[in-house]
Amino acid sequence: MKAGISSISIYIPPLYLSHDDLADARAIPRDKFRIGLGHVNMAIVPPWDDTVTMAANAAEMAIETAGIDKDEIGLLIVSTETGVDQSKPVASFVQGLLGIGHRTRVYEIKHACYGGTVAIMNAINWVKSQHHRGKKALVITSDIAKYGLNTLGEPTQGAGAVAFIISDETEFIHFLPDLNAFYSKDVYDFWRPNGYLTPIVDGKYSIDCYLEALDFCTKDLQDNLIRETGKELLDFVDYFMYHLPFPRMAYKAHCRLLATLNPTLAEDAINRMYEESFTEKMKPALMGSEEVGNIYTGSVYMCLMSLMEEKSESLIGKNIGIFSYGSGCGAEFLIAHIGRGMKQQAKHLNFNKQLKRRKKITMEEYTELYSEQGASKTIKREDVISTDDEFSRYFFTGVNEHKRQYAKNRN
Ligand code: COA
Repeated sequence: MKAGISSISIYIPPLYLSHDDLADARAIPRDKFRIGLGHVNMAIVPPWDDTVTMAANAAEMAIETAGIDKDEIGLLIVSTETGVDQSKPVASFVQGLLGIGHRTRVYEIKHACYGGTVAIMNAINWVKSQHHRGKKALVITSDIAKYGLNTLGEPTQGAGAVAFIISDETEFIHFLPDLNAFYSKDVYDFWRPNGYLTPIVDGKYSIDCYLEALDFCTKDLQDNLIRETGKELLDFVDYFMYHLPFPRMAYKAHCRLLATLNPTLAEDAINRMYEESFTEKMKPALMGSEEVGNIYTGSVYMCLMSLMEEKSESLIGKNIGIFSYGSGCGAEFLIAHIGRGMKQQAKHLNFNKQLKRRKKITMEEYTELYSEQGASKTIKREDVISTDDEFSRYFFTGVNEHKRQYAKNRN
C-alpha cells in the first residue's frame, strides 16, 4: 500500500437552471450553449448554501466513505477562490462545523482552479513525511462560479465541492509523482480584484493561456513517462480528464494534446483521432460538467467522480491523466492509478443520486437569487430538502455582528 487518496466525495447544491431556459431568456440559440459550450444544466446555490456548507457537506461524506474517525485527521486544507472572508479561512469554519480536533494544521490555499491540485499534492507530501504521526489529511475544494446576470460568462457558472481523505496507506488512488509536469506564468486571464463579487474574465485569452500550459505540460509528461517507463502517454493513459470551465473545453484540450504529440499530422487527422478516442477515453468524464457547470477548484475532480459513476469497479488497474489548470496561471499534468480500493468506494457513490434529487428553478427564481442582493423570498429550504436530508447537512443561517452563522440538520 502507498500514500494517496483513500476516499472522495462530492456535494452539489440542490437547485439547477436549464441552459435551454437561459438561452431562451437571453435570446441566444440553444445550440450555442448545448453544442458550442456543451452545457445542459447548471447548479444554482440556494440562500442556505455557501462555500463553507458545501465544503462541510462534501467532507462529512468523504470521512464516512473512508470509515475513519474525525480525530484521525491531522491536516485540513480547503482550496477555494470564493472564500467567505478575507482573513478567516474556510477550513476553520469546516473544522468547527465538523468538530475536528485542535491538534490539527488547518489552512486555506488559493491558486484559482489549480489550487485543489496544490492542496492534494501538499497533503500527499505531508502523509509521506515524518510529521503526520499516523494521521490523515482532509482536503476540500469548494467554489461558487458566478459571473453575473447577462454576462458572457453567465452560461459557464456552477457550484460544488469535492472532498478527499489522503492517507499514507491506501489501495484506492495513487499518483505517480515522479512524472508530474508543471507550468506557471504571470498572466491576467481571469481575476477578481478585492471588493469585487464576480470575476473579470478575458475568456478567449484564458483559453489560449490554458492551451499554452497544456502544450508545455504534455511535452514534459511525455518525456518523463518515456524516461521512467519506456511508454508513451497515449499508450499509458486509459482516460484523460481536463479542467473544464465548460464541457466543450475537453474537445479543445484533447485535440491540442493529440496535436502536440503528433506535430506532423494535419488538423483533419487530429480530429479523426479525437473522434476515435472520445467515446471510450473522455465522454464518461463529462457528465458532471454538463449537469453542474464549473466548480473551479474541484472541476477536474468532478470529472473523476463522473468517471467513477459511469465505470465503477472496471476502473481498477486503470491510469488516468489529469490536467489541472488555474488562471493567473498555474498548471500540472499528473497521472493517477486506480487500485482495488475502488471496490469499496463504489459502494458509496452518490453523485447521480444528488443530481436526481435536484429541483429545477425558473428564470424568475434564478434572477431573484443571483441578483446583487443574493437573497430569495420565494425559494425556501423546507420546500426543497427535508430536515434530515442526507447530503445537505450543514446550512447557512445568516450574519450576526459580522459573524457568519451555521447550523446542522438532524442527520
Ligand atoms: N450553435 C452551435 N455552436 C455555436 C453557436 C450555435 N448557434 N453559436 C456559437 N457557437 C459556438 C462558437 O462557435 C464557439 O465555439 P468554438 O470555441 O469551438 O469556436 C462557442 O460556441 C462559444 O461561442 P463564442 O461566441 O466564441 O464565445 P463567447 O464569447 O460566448 O464566450 C466563453 C465563451 C467560454 C469564453 C465565455 O463564456 C467565458 O469567458 N466563460 C468563462 C470562462 C472561464 O471561466 N474561464 C476560467 C478560466 S479556466
